[in-house]
Amino acid sequence: MLDPAPTFFSYSSSRSVSCWWVTDLSGNPSTRYPLSVSRTTVSCAALTALSSSIDIVCYLASLGSPPPWRMEVEKYEALTDELTFSKRDRILDIGCGTGRSLVGIAPAVPPTCTTVGLDPFDDRIILGNAPGLARRNARNAGLDASVVRGDGTRLPVSDDSMDVVTACRMLHDLSATAANRTLSEAHRVCRPDGRLGVLELPITHVESSNPTEYWCERVSDAGFDIAVVEELDLNDKRYVVIIGEPR
Ligand SMILES: C[S@@+](CC[C@H](N)C(=O)[O-])C[C@H]1O[C@@H](n2cnc3c(N)ncnc32)[C@H](O)[C@@H]1O
Repeated sequence: MLDPAPTFFSYSSSRSVSCWWVTDLSGNPSTRYPLSVSRTTVSCAALTALSSSIDIVCYLASLGSPPPWRMEVEKYEALTDELTFSKRDRILDIGCGTGRSLVGIAPAVPPTCTTVGLDPFDDRIILGNAPGLARRNARNAGLDASVVRGDGTRLPVSDDSMDVVTACRMLHDLSATAANRTLSEAHRVCRPDGRLGVLELPITHVESSNPTEYWCERVSDAGFDIAVVEELDLNDKRYVVIIGEPR
């Protein structure tokens, strides 16, 4: 069973590293060792110094990493409640990022499914964003996913090859043209009896439009019948879940 609020990809030793910097820069005597000391004290001092050096190395390594995050599972549960997975499903998660959506769908995905996460992994936008990170986070949540670098508007995936395509909290990040193109690509790669699952924020490309209607229209225009629409209000955060079936 997945911890309801696990932390994925956390910094290593950052707390002790910041302590090290603070103590060192402030000249705190606790970082200086007396000249006349026992062998045990020297060993302890040496170990402390070594541990500080390791902390610094970990800290420097973590500079290229994204911050840790905690999972809010409910929105993904709402999606997967409507997207029942079969044992042999092939699943594509477009815009998986650091893996939150893979982690979110993980409890509902049978281990016999084949799951692929795809993202451009532009680490100018999310520091340290890379396929290995999403893969690791998914694995920690019990999902063995392949993760590939790619663009939702030009999916490197064959026609009619996926049983389930998901796009979670990513379409609103794209331009209207790219969002429409990504949904068309989702339709192209989705098998005729497959499903599309969209989890979106109440953000649209057209001011004053109703977000639920807006995203339903986008999904419908891409060639899907709307099978399910659900509006969520989770701790004052609103989402829309849309399940589409290829026409
Ligand atoms: C807010 S994050 C959502 C990540 C994850 N799906 C989730 O539910 O948390 C949006 C993701 O969309 C990705 N993205 C941006 N442009 C994309 C594109 N053209 N194709 C696929 N993914 C894209 C970003 O790299 C980012 O990881």
